[in-house]
Amino acid sequence: MSEVKNVLSLHGISKFFPGVKALDNVSFDIRPGEVHALVGENGAGKSTLMKILAGLYNPDQGNIIHQDKHVKIRNPLEARTRGILLIHQELSLSPELSVAENIYLGAWPTNFFGVLKKRKLNKDSLIALSAMGCDFGPKVRVGSLSIAKRQMVEIARAQAFNANVVIFDEPTASLTDTEKEQLFNTIRELKARDVGIVYISHKMDEIFEIADRITVLRDGTVQGTVHTKDTNINLITKMMIGRELNTFFTRANSEIGSEVLRVEKLCRKGEFENVSFSIKSGEVLGLYGLIGAGRSEVAETIFGVRKADSGKIAWMEKEINFPTPRQAIDMGLCLAPESRKEQGLVLNMSGKNNVTLPHLVKYSNYTVMDWRRELATFEKYREVLDIKTTGADQEVVQLSGGNQQKFVLAKWLCNEPDLLILDEPTRGIDVGSKSAIHALIAGLAEQGLAVIVISSEMPEVLGVSHRILTMSEGRLNGEFSGMEMTESNLINAVSQHLEQTA
Ligand SMILES: Nc1ncnc2c1ncn2[C@@H]1O[C@H](COP(=O)(O)OP(=O)(O)OP(=O)(O)O)[C@@H](O)[C@H]1O
Ligand SMILES: [Mg+2]
Repeated sequence: MSEVKNVLSLHGISKFFPGVKALDNVSFDIRPGEVHALVGENGAGKSTLMKILAGLYNPDQGNIIHQDKHVKIRNPLEARTRGILLIHQELSLSPELSVAENIYLGAWPTNFFGVLKKRKLNKDSLIALSAMGCDFGPKVRVGSLSIAKRQMVEIARAQAFNANVVIFDEPTASLTDTEKEQLFNTIRELKARDVGIVYISHKMDEIFEIADRITVLRDGTVQGTVHTKDTNINLITKMMIGRELNTFFTRANSEIGSEVLRVEKLCRKGEFENVSFSIKSGEVLGLYGLIGAGRSEVAETIFGVRKADSGKIAWMEKEINFPTPRQAIDMGLCLAPESRKEQGLVLNMSGKNNVTLPHLVKYSNYTVMDWRRELATFEKYREVLDIKTTGADQEVVQLSGGNQQKFVLAKWLCNEPDLLILDEPTRGIDVGSKSAIHALIAGLAEQGLAVIVISSEMPEVLGVSHRILTMSEGRLNGEFSGMEMTESNLINAVSQHLEQTA
């Protein structure tokens, strides 16, 4: 067999952070025109490896060979000029700048006097955008675009800089199915132009749909590289977590008690209307719908982050005014939001402090913090959720994406609420920890908590819920329990409006 040429290869890469060996003698290569998936548990080292390629971190050991030359990639601009582009787990655009300014950020075309050539900037950007079939122009402010469109802008950078390697770090976490299909089409186009692609995801079905080869990382070491056609999901999962995974979901075997929350005809203009439902203690209620259906908006309105236009709310069978978030927390209602970066965590604070932050009164006698109790709580959830951190004082900004998400959960769990709303609780979480979180949800319900699980993952809602509400386009349009909780019933319910408008 003739030797396949690599566009980029890494040899013996190691990277240390204080207290952590993030990468240990890792070798990895990318061929032109292939999609090479990189998988592994939360904290395995995937993002770190890719940040080295993108010039964000320098390796402590090892070599990088790019287009047959030994190279050092000292900073992001150097990576970009070489044609290596990283599309981040947390997007990295500047919301205040225009699309065109973002595409060419750090390399704006200027004339002899250093003045920005705006017309050229916009013209070149338009070419890159139209090549991808984008329906927005170069002058739009990035802050006004949806996540999917922002991602398109990042990919347009790849076109504009004539990239030869494009790295996607969990690109589909916040995309709808249609947007995901668009993204996959773009990836196929990049492939056809011989670009080498790295694809990081925790979604195995996506990996098996798009990847040619798969490399598995565990605790910073490579477990192996295999061709997708020679393997299967079980084998890859086993390589990732070192054991067979029990994929059975755990539904809470709880006693359903009295009503905890009831909402009636909840409305918010342009977001949702006439939302009515109730939930009892010990019950796990699934709220299923596609991204953008209005589920998070409903949750945030109940929790007091958004203001209802009209509707009623009752807590423990008594009608109340809509609470502020502080009042909600104090009465025993918590919301673990989906977006950890914007709503969930104070990134430059320690894990321990993040967990107890909303509950300071509980952990202090009004003036003095009870450090020992705070630490005990931290340790408890670190163990239950298997959080990978060097210790209670490590800042959460240093943690991997999935481990940050686990802290968002810990923060709300430790308040021991009566009702817990979890918005996409396992987004960005690896397969092993997913089942741990499902078991945790069941355990909480068995202790008498009411839990609302908002999820776009069908197996997840079907697996953990006692009852499921479906939502699309801002309206609840189905309720299922027992034998009626089937995949086809849920799909039919959320696609009703599509048939009506077709
Ligand atoms: N800047 C940093 N300082 C200290 N430690 C870090 C830093 N960046 C990453 N780490 C640590 O390196 C390890 C690998 O993290 P990395 O982000 O690469 O994981 P990952 O495989 O991308 O996980 P996830 O699936 O959760 O995104 C983790 O233990 C993380 O805490
Ligand atoms: Mg990561």
